[in-house]
Amino acid sequence: MSKIATLEIDGNKFELPIVIGSENEAAVDISKLRDQSGVITLDPGYKNSGSCKSEITFLDGELGILRYRGYAIEDLAEKAHFLEVSYLVIFGELPTASQLLQYETDIRKYTLVNEEMKSIIDGFPKTAHPMGVLSALTSALTAFNPKSVNAENEKEMYEAVCKTMGKFLVIATWTYRKSMGFPLNYYDNTKGYVENFMHLMFELPTGPYTPDPVVINALDKLFILHADHEQNCSTSTVRMVGSSHAGLFASISAGVSALWGPLHGGANQAVLEMLEDIQKDGGDADKYLAKAKDKNDPFRLMGFGHRVYKNFDPRAKIIKKAADEVLSTLGVDDPILSIAKRLEESALQDDYFKSRNLYPNVDFYSGIIYRALGIPTDMFTVMFAIGRLPGWIAQWKEMRENKEPIGRPRQIYVGYPLREFKRSQE
Ligand code: SDX
Repeated sequence: MSKIATLEIDGNKFELPIVIGSENEAAVDISKLRDQSGVITLDPGYKNSGSCKSEITFLDGELGILRYRGYAIEDLAEKAHFLEVSYLVIFGELPTASQLLQYETDIRKYTLVNEEMKSIIDGFPKTAHPMGVLSALTSALTAFNPKSVNAENEKEMYEAVCKTMGKFLVIATWTYRKSMGFPLNYYDNTKGYVENFMHLMFELPTGPYTPDPVVINALDKLFILHADHEQNCSTSTVRMVGSSHAGLFASISAGVSALWGPLHGGANQAVLEMLEDIQKDGGDADKYLAKAKDKNDPFRLMGFGHRVYKNFDPRAKIIKKAADEVLSTLGVDDPILSIAKRLEESALQDDYFKSRNLYPNVDFYSGIIYRALGIPTDMFTVMFAIGRLPGWIAQWKEMRENKEPIGRPRQIYVGYPLREFKRSQE
């Protein structure tokens, strides 16, 4: 491919460099376009615009490929553990055994959340959505850890990573405990990271609690599958907020809010609610496919479609297989799973979905597993956030290490021309 693109406007030619990535993706570098030509580009939703160069995640939407730091998601989901993958995503290499042990030990230094944070969570009604509480608590962590991290100082950055990995998991589970009226649990430094999630969520002072290893393994795999996904909406938000040199907690808090939306991470909750509605309405998958295709009907098939994947989301394939395994191992016979499979089969044969390259995405089956694992529906997107945390940290760290400029898009104004100030006499 040529290294130069030529743009002609009113007979004037402008040469723009073409950037080629390590997987042969190509981009026209327009960073000098306005200076040279006086014009800008316009791309609502950034469907055709790259915001950065990144070494963290590669995905190919046409081929359904996803890799973290060059490792295929299929390999990582099958052979690695979540904490190991979080280290890979954040620091760029798989940890050695001693590095992983040290990383887990260092995270444990920060798993105690300031007791005064409990008075903040007490201010929320039990009915508050866990994602709203999580975003608030994440931002509140800044109040108790006010020293903003110097991203250029390797030691400070490493400590901030461990602190964030430690405290975020605890406050994420507190959102559930609050909604149930249960006492807030503490991280147990004698247990593993994902095992701690189960204890933090479900252990009650009234008796012993031993989580099922099948559940811990399934969650570990699910967290790996959610760990990063290049410049998705919430990650771009974390980068944007961090580009003003706002702190890591503040940036992640913004990412939690972006993930909450039903078009993004909130879709895993919306999928389950959709499947339950279909079940209540007699389980007629075709009726709901018709609604999804009807332009006059606001109903969308949640868990289907993706901005980048125009083929199967590789994560959806892994999660679908895991759903079968986990439900049969746990002896759960959930009719919702068969409704989901019927929906998928019908949609994949339907021209409307095929012509728009609409396939199941990561959110289509994940909720079915979470439900089988005893996770309440309104906690599904919190599960997504726990998995995505390493990606948010990694992308924030990369943006700051690369000294990227503050994010500030331009616009095309289409409002009133200049007009004189006159109050109406009515
Ligand atoms: C995530 O970006 C990431 O990487 C995100 C994520 C990550 O890991 O961070 O992968 C996680 O957010 C997955 C997506 C979860 N969202 C949902 O499942 C919500 C349902 N899906 C859609 O709302 C939609 O598919 C989006 C938002 C995911 C993508 O929307 P786009 O890329 O803006 O596509 P579009 O809205 O322009 O749709 C193109 C066409 C339209 O029809 P036409 O106008 O061409 O006739 O496809 C139709 C849309 O109406 N369409 C759907 C549909 N999704 C798209 N029609 C019915 N049901 C759907 N789900």
